[in-house]
Amino acid sequence: MDNNTVQQQIAALREQLHQHNYRYYILAQPLISDFEFDSLMKQLEALEQQHPEFADANSPTQRVGSDKEQAFVQVQHTYPMLSLGNTYSREDLSEFDDRIRKNIEEDYEYVCELKYDGIAISIRYENGALKQAVTRGDGLVGDDVTQNIKTIKSIPLVLPSAEYPDEFEVRGEVFLPLDGFMKMNAEREALGEAAFANPRNAAAGSIKMQNSSTVAKRPLDCYLYYVLGANLSFQTHAQGLSKIKEWGFKVSEHTQICKSIDEVFTFIDFWDKQRHTLPFDIDGIVIKINKIAQQQELGFTAKNPRWAISYKFKAEQAFTKLNSVDYQVGRTGAITPVANLTPVQLAGTTVKRASLHNADQIALLDLRIGDIVCIEKGGEIIPKVVSVDVSRRSEAVQVLEYIQHCPACNTALVRIDGEAKHFCPNEFACPPQIKGKMEHFISRKAMNINAAEATVAQLYEAGLLKDVSDFYYLKKENLLSLDRFAEKSAQNLLDSVEASKQVPFTKVLFALGIRYVGETVAKKIAQALGSIEALFQASVADLLAIDEVGEKIASSIKLWCENELNQKIVTKMQLAGVCFEHIAQQKESLGNTLNGLNMVISGTFTLHSREQIKELIELHGGKNVSAVSAKTNYLIAGDNIGPSKLKKAQDLGVKIISETEFLAMLG
Ligand code: IVH
Repeated sequence: MDNNTVQQQIAALREQLHQHNYRYYILAQPLISDFEFDSLMKQLEALEQQHPEFADANSPTQRVGSDKEQAFVQVQHTYPMLSLGNTYSREDLSEFDDRIRKNIEEDYEYVCELKYDGIAISIRYENGALKQAVTRGDGLVGDDVTQNIKTIKSIPLVLPSAEYPDEFEVRGEVFLPLDGFMKMNAEREALGEAAFANPRNAAAGSIKMQNSSTVAKRPLDCYLYYVLGANLSFQTHAQGLSKIKEWGFKVSEHTQICKSIDEVFTFIDFWDKQRHTLPFDIDGIVIKINKIAQQQELGFTAKNPRWAISYKFKAEQAFTKLNSVDYQVGRTGAITPVANLTPVQLAGTTVKRASLHNADQIALLDLRIGDIVCIEKGGEIIPKVVSVDVSRRSEAVQVLEYIQHCPACNTALVRIDGEAKHFCPNEFACPPQIKGKMEHFISRKAMNINAAEATVAQLYEAGLLKDVSDFYYLKKENLLSLDRFAEKSAQNLLDSVEASKQVPFTKVLFALGIRYVGETVAKKIAQALGSIEALFQASVADLLAIDEVGEKIASSIKLWCENELNQKIVTKMQLAGVCFEHIAQQKESLGNTLNGLNMVISGTFTLHSREQIKELIELHGGKNVSAVSAKTNYLIAGDNIGPSKLKKAQDLGVKIISETEFLAMLG
């Protein structure tokens, strides 16, 4: 294929993928299956990898983000990003309406919109392509978070229509839908990481992450609600919204024109009751004057537009009695106190339990058993206890003493400096921790062994499973002697265990449940070290040299490896035939230009991620080496190159080349 044909093919694939992306994420009307979409994407990825000269920052392949660290550059907003005046009271809204009536002579109408609870973003498009995305910051200057925003699939990289102005900015709210938020928190908790308090915090944290490939894994979404530009051709805000929808942006359908403040109240009442039916959080309603000319007439105060206001819903609260406190023990031994309450209706559900977070929170609330407590469902999924009604405290209340021993195994709890939660250190003999580890081990993303939670508990209690390695020594006759096991179910379980011996090392490593070693880190470690033996032998420095492994992860791995029980578990699994070696996916060689050459890379790169450069080295026959030595042939230097590596390379006379020089070497 000559270069022109390749370029055309790349352009055609990009165009198709942009269209399919739009149909899937904006219109929710996909034309092709996920499999077909993935295969088009793979074709494009392969072509782009072979032809870095046709790289494009807005290619659909760029959605996966990069593992390159980014520093957020501060950018001045072309149009200041003002916030809205807000109120919780209807009187204020009536006063707002009075002010509008006094200030404009003709009739006016409002557009009512949902107030999405996320983080505001302003995105600039030039000639139909996404150029820059900036956070609100202080309203005048924000952070350039373009790389992270590009990973959000419902934000077009290239507009699918042709009817857009050359330059404009759209503004909207990036948020985490509730199901994605819950999944993400469950995964974090399973890894022993702190859960996000609510979807808004999770969205805000995600947008400010330095590694856009991690952002790409967060199920973020975005509604657009405002468009700005020099020559926009519409007269009303509602027309503006339908225009940006035509251009390819995601705009909410729950928007309504209201001809009077009473109609606004009806809209507010409706959504105050119905907001729990939405798959994302809203915290109020935004009310905007529809006609742009009237908006201009009303203008702005120093902080807010005079033509819009937000009405905020009160967090829903209820009062009920605290009957007792339970303490749950997680897979990592973390203790979570949970309040048992007299059932009460709150935000459309009956609430019986509420989160108490940790000992500090309980002390802060000065909570006693028998107290009447106020519970609240704000942005959070699980209600929390926010205060105690001390005026209703009876003589019979009992002081709540935080437990000192594990409720499951009675081991004295510990509290590590800097951690809010207490931990049970008895990780190998504390039943909920063992069961939690087993459930994690067999989960779909780990060993994918088909057994229900109740089955795991049953096998554990029957003494057939003492640790995860015992899955590989289960015998049919033992299973058959248990309740609920018949020939077929026993065989299914054994087959599923047998099949798990094919699970690749990356997943096995994740399945072992080493604290802080999630799926991504497990993959990086497996690729870097290649086997469990190498992991056992690795020093902290070796571990720190691996992408994404920092001090906390390295010392957790070290601790895990030094433990004799863990070593025994691994040996038993090795004997059973579980895979503890990384088999690198055989990729087609791209040539032998770098045969016999030792390459070191340092710094961050513009056209490729570090991983991609390493892969290119290997695919061209070269060897990736982490430290510069006399044997190093080339140092590929990116931005912010490590000064010691640079000096060493200069001292040893190692050739130092840039990313482009490296690509030129590959031809
Ligand atoms: S309009 C000049 N519309 O609420 C008008 N804002 O305090 C600018 N928000 O910073 C904002 N949903 O992050 C507008 N439908 C909506 C919104 C909305 C959420 C956020 C936005 C803004 C804050 C206002």
